[in-house]
Amino acid sequence: AQLLVLHGPNLNLLGTREPGVYGHATLEQIDAQLQVQATQAGHALSSFQSNAESALVERIQAAREDGTAFIVINPAAYTHTSVAIRDALAAVALPFIEVHLSNPHAREPFRHTSFVSDLAVGVIAGFGADSYRYALDAALARLARAPS
Ligand code: DQA
Repeated sequence: AQLLVLHGPNLNLLGTREPGVYGHATLEQIDAQLQVQATQAGHALSSFQSNAESALVERIQAAREDGTAFIVINPAAYTHTSVAIRDALAAVALPFIEVHLSNPHAREPFRHTSFVSDLAVGVIAGFGADSYRYALDAALARLARAPS
């Protein structure tokens, strides 16, 4: 199957961005690891990062047409603000897992709400770059159970 990994704003800075919170892995390293993980399981994976809400909405909309079977998304700050990203995910109606490197619930109160969690298959947060690995593992297990 085709999987899509989406990264929201400022995640292009991973590696140098608040490493005490987000770790030292770069986005390129994370994407490369996910690529290997998906390929080894016999699936295809593409990754997309944008700092723009509109670009993320458009990429989610495109997922309905391009054969994407599952989305792994770290909406970053848009988690806490974006009705538009929530609506796009609801519109395409593809299963998705919400991912965070940090544990937003252990941080400022404004990070305690998510506009997408209630639509997600599940949420994985707090494990640094491993959060993505665990999320993809869960996505792959789900695809193996219900191939599409
Ligand atoms: C984040 C958590 C968000 O609160 C924050 O705005 C981010 C990254 C994370 O992965 O821990 O940019 O989604």
